[in-house]
Amino acid sequence: MKAFASAPAKMILFGEHSVVYGEPAIAGAVNKRAFVQIKRSFNDKSYLKSYDLNFEVELDTQNKSYILKKGKPGIIRYILEALSRVHDHSPIMMILSSQIPIGSGLGSSAAVTVATLAALYRYHNIRFTKKSLAHDAHMVEQAVQGVASPLDTLVSTYGGIVYLSRNKKFYPFKTKFNAPFVVGYTTKHGNTAKMVKGVRILKNRNPKLIDPVISAMGNLTNTAKYAISKGDYARIGELMNINHGFLDVLGVNTVELSRMVYTARECGAIGSKITGAGGGGSVIALCPGKTHEVSQGIAKQDNILPVKFTKKGVSSRVRW
Ligand code: MEV
Repeated sequence: MKAFASAPAKMILFGEHSVVYGEPAIAGAVNKRAFVQIKRSFNDKSYLKSYDLNFEVELDTQNKSYILKKGKPGIIRYILEALSRVHDHSPIMMILSSQIPIGSGLGSSAAVTVATLAALYRYHNIRFTKKSLAHDAHMVEQAVQGVASPLDTLVSTYGGIVYLSRNKKFYPFKTKFNAPFVVGYTTKHGNTAKMVKGVRILKNRNPKLIDPVISAMGNLTNTAKYAISKGDYARIGELMNINHGFLDVLGVNTVELSRMVYTARECGAIGSKITGAGGGGSVIALCPGKTHEVSQGIAKQDNILPVKFTKKGVSSRVRW
């Protein structure tokens, strides 16, 4: 028997970092996915292989450790954590493939975690719902990162565009909003745990300065919610630019991210900002009618990834 699961990447439109402190956020699933396949191992050992990410490891699922055979497995801690919570430690072969650049700020760890858990539940014939899966995946992210909001795992599980409120209630967005975004990413990876910790240190050292910024970011997200439901691109773009300024204040900007943000605006984007944890990773640019110009501008020095919002969340099945 083989179990299969896949889950989408996400793009945070508004509210990264401030969401960690209970402020609202808006994010959408995009049409790049992580795929996990699990079957019985051909011998008495467990393995994890990824042909496209170019790594291979022998897994010790009991001790959450591994022996590296080939390559560099960036997201392995999430997989080991998921295995330790669900797997019975029988020998398995896991194959991971991902269309999401690792460390890009597009939620590769959440997508891999959600897909791994869903595949494991299928493999062991354990009943689950989207609600229980999103919850369990959030617990895995929290265990690995120390601090994590439920945002990334919710989006990867449910798909679509979601609004996460101040009291952590999540609402699928009722909008046909499918604006043309360009994602630009650097080869310099972001590290979510490190960036979240950096913001916490800054906030603890300067509460009178940083607390009002975080609460302004929450107000900005709520203003954006209204603009998105009306499809008011000009307003959304303006709010994205302000959000980028706030993220810069929090210390998660880099030279490369700034370069992409301002190149996008020079090439005609009406809004551009970091998406995700920052410190490397990606920016998003809202550029109706200027997708080509903005893509070409960013691609001169960095990478672009054409993405679209998708309603499709996690999907899983078994084959006998
Ligand atoms: C990372 O994609 C988003 C952050 O807000 C962290 C989190 O929400 O857990 C930076």
